[in-house]
Amino acid sequence: MDGFTTRAIRAASRAPRVDQRPTSVPIYQVVTFSAADADELGAVTTGATEGYVYARMANPTVDALAATVAEIHGAEAGYAVASGMAAIHVAVGSLVRAGDRIVATRNLYGTTRSLLTRVLGRAGVETTFVDPADLDAVEAALAAAPTRVLYLETISNPTIAVADLPALAALGHRHGAAVVVDNTFASPALCRPIELGADLVVESATKYLSGHSDVLAGVVAGSAERIAAVRALQVDTGATLAPFSAFLVLRGIPTLGLRMERHAATAARLAALLGTAPEVSRVLYPMLSSHPDHAVARRLLPNGGGMLAVELAGGAPAARAFVDALRIPERTASLGSIHTIVVHPPSTTHRQLTPAELAAAGIAPGLLRISVGLEDPDDLLADVAQALAAARTAA
Ligand SMILES: Cc1ncc(COP(=O)(O)O)c(C=O)c1O
Repeated sequence: MDGFTTRAIRAASRAPRVDQRPTSVPIYQVVTFSAADADELGAVTTGATEGYVYARMANPTVDALAATVAEIHGAEAGYAVASGMAAIHVAVGSLVRAGDRIVATRNLYGTTRSLLTRVLGRAGVETTFVDPADLDAVEAALAAAPTRVLYLETISNPTIAVADLPALAALGHRHGAAVVVDNTFASPALCRPIELGADLVVESATKYLSGHSDVLAGVVAGSAERIAAVRALQVDTGATLAPFSAFLVLRGIPTLGLRMERHAATAARLAALLGTAPEVSRVLYPMLSSHPDHAVARRLLPNGGGMLAVELAGGAPAARAFVDALRIPERTASLGSIHTIVVHPPSTTHRQLTPAELAAAGIAPGLLRISVGLEDPDDLLADVAQALAAARTAA
């Protein structure tokens, strides 16, 4: 008979056989999967046979999330990683090498900009930034030199600009570039870039997909061939998603459509309230006819989503007073959550920019970004109304 510890290890490692299909995806908190014999181990390790060996290469819970995101994006394949930034890194990194060029839209999430300029720049990849609303300028940038990647965001930060994805994807393809779209602000409930011509879509699943501000995750979706290249890079770089994190994102996805309807309905009411308030000089919400990209948004977004920006007439002091007076929203940096989240970009997410750079990016001193949550709309609107009164007093 084997010794006590040998028996304990064997007994405690025997996964139960389950013949009935579970109605949600179990958490495979497992790193190693044992093969039946040496041949099977070799075949699975080299990819000749499908299966699992080691969780940095694949894990069933993480695969289930990747397959779910691919399906809801209308893509052939998907891959899930440890954060939105990891997703952007493996998506773009799978396409470029030293000497290549990227054309990217200029109002990118700050860390994405830093990844492109600092990390990929150091590796010999050059990025040129363009205004996505100026299609002639995008075409000129693409025509100026061979371009490997056209990189853009469906809805960009913090001015809620909406990109004309079909037109931009067609331009990218005409010039031989792969089109990569960060769809985080929209989510697949609102926009599916693969159906509009993108080659790869990335999402920070930290935001709308999971929806509860309690998990960091990222996903990439696209053709099976492109996702195989993404996977190969990820296996070598190792930003692996934990199975429990994958489970939390999977738990969020079934309610994404319902959540987005509520986010958008409340955001539309909030935009209307802010639009008539004397303390407010500008409201940026895609469904308002005053939004610079309203025509594009009407074509591409079934509702305006949950993100809006507002400029207070009293500038930075009024913005600060407004934020401090709010009772319900969270004062923090993320978005796409159950909580309403209010942030003052000039003093937080975009604080590295000089006043001239802020002005060039359309970020006024009194600009606030609001990610509308799922609270009862009447409570939120009443809270915003009283905070506007506080902003008036401060101004
Ligand atoms: C548009 C956008 N893309 C990507 C990211 C990065 O996501 P993560 O924080 O999950 O790495 C963020 C984070 O705020 C974002 O706003």
